[in-house]
Amino acid sequence: MKTVIVLGCDGYIGHALTLRLLEKGYEVYGIDDFQRRKNVAEMKSFSATAIQTPEERHKIFQKIGRFHFLKIHLAEIYLGQMLGFLKGTDPIAIVNLAQMPSAPFSMKSCQHTIQSTNNNIDATLNVLYWMKEFAPDAQLVQIGTMGEYDPAAGTDIPEGTFDLEWNGKIAKNVIFPRRPGSFYHASKVASTYLIDCASRWWNISATDIMQGVVYGNWTPEIEKYNCHTRLDSDESFGTVINRFVVQAIIQHPLTVFGEGEQKRGYLALNDSVQCLMLAIENPPKKGEYRTWNQLDTVYAVNELAKIVQAVFGNHNWPVDIKKIPTPRAERTDNFHYVPYTEKLKELGFKPSRNITDEIEYLYKVLFSQNLSDLWDVAVPKITWK
Ligand SMILES: NC(=O)c1ccc[n+]([C@@H]2O[C@H](COP(=O)([O-])OP(=O)(O)OC[C@H]3O[C@@H](n4cnc5c(N)ncnc54)[C@H](O)[C@@H]3O)[C@@H](O)[C@H]2O)c1
Repeated sequence: MKTVIVLGCDGYIGHALTLRLLEKGYEVYGIDDFQRRKNVAEMKSFSATAIQTPEERHKIFQKIGRFHFLKIHLAEIYLGQMLGFLKGTDPIAIVNLAQMPSAPFSMKSCQHTIQSTNNNIDATLNVLYWMKEFAPDAQLVQIGTMGEYDPAAGTDIPEGTFDLEWNGKIAKNVIFPRRPGSFYHASKVASTYLIDCASRWWNISATDIMQGVVYGNWTPEIEKYNCHTRLDSDESFGTVINRFVVQAIIQHPLTVFGEGEQKRGYLALNDSVQCLMLAIENPPKKGEYRTWNQLDTVYAVNELAKIVQAVFGNHNWPVDIKKIPTPRAERTDNFHYVPYTEKLKELGFKPSRNITDEIEYLYKVLFSQNLSDLWDVAVPKITWK
């Protein structure tokens, strides 16, 4: 039986990935400190899907397969507890999802910036040191973010590296320039460079995934075991499509930032899990550091709002769209945004979920929930200024 370690197994993506791995017969060692649950509560918000407690989730996991769990803060300890828990395991992959994933949360105050960047950088370092000593032949699968790049840079965005031509000379396989859009994104850029260093110095194999924005809540395992992953809608932890769907349910206008023409890449939760499985099951060569862009389709925010409005309109559920000033430092007009996504296709990635189907699914799941208290967190208050 193959073993995979999932760091951040209680999170939005980690929960869905853990279910998939167990269902496919992997033994899973999960670690989490539940900071996502705590941080969402700090935002005075809650998951729109009804989620189980960690203990209830673990019982479900253990009915499906071999699951072991440890609660620790990966950025604070140095190896000690992690060592004992993972002693004797021979993982094929360590999937590191244990990061604070919110741009606004990282911009809330000096304390939040330091908490977020320490968390993300120190956890990555702990994992790399642990791998160097105890799992040198395993693969690190790390999710970075498409937000490491400047979306409005004006050029196409290659997958991770490119050949830099300057002053008549060419440097091969240079990390493509980053220009993060928040301190959170800056911590992800730092992780990219840390992993690149560990790969060059310690021969660690790694897949560093520049992921687009994930939406939805469906995977076959979530449906089979009636075990939803979380779905947040507050300004910090709600990604835009999930936020729009919850706003539509509570009949709050969909809050489009600025002109609404800013483009990003999106993919459904089931496809994020599909891509992670492709990484786990198709490891890089020993010591190789590879990176790919993980997204399905590029949309402007205005398009997303109109799609959500149309799906709800089919249920005779009127939804307004309201433009509000963007709280971020970002361009919201129409700009060139063409990220390359060839590498996943070469490994066989085929999008499994259509955006309207996923919104329809969320409508059905959320319609009977009492979500009116989420009205208070619908409008952003954190600004970059
Ligand atoms: N969701 C998206 O749209 C999206 C987009 C691009 C990139 N990503 C990246 O994907 C990864 C997973 O994102 P997510 O949306 O599932 O986030 P999430 O917050 O739901 O999951 C992260 C999990 O890790 C745990 N965690 C965080 N820091 C930890 C630490 N120091 N020690 C132990 N546990 C810790 C959290 O409690 C949480 O359960 C993150 O690296 C994020 O930056 C997410």
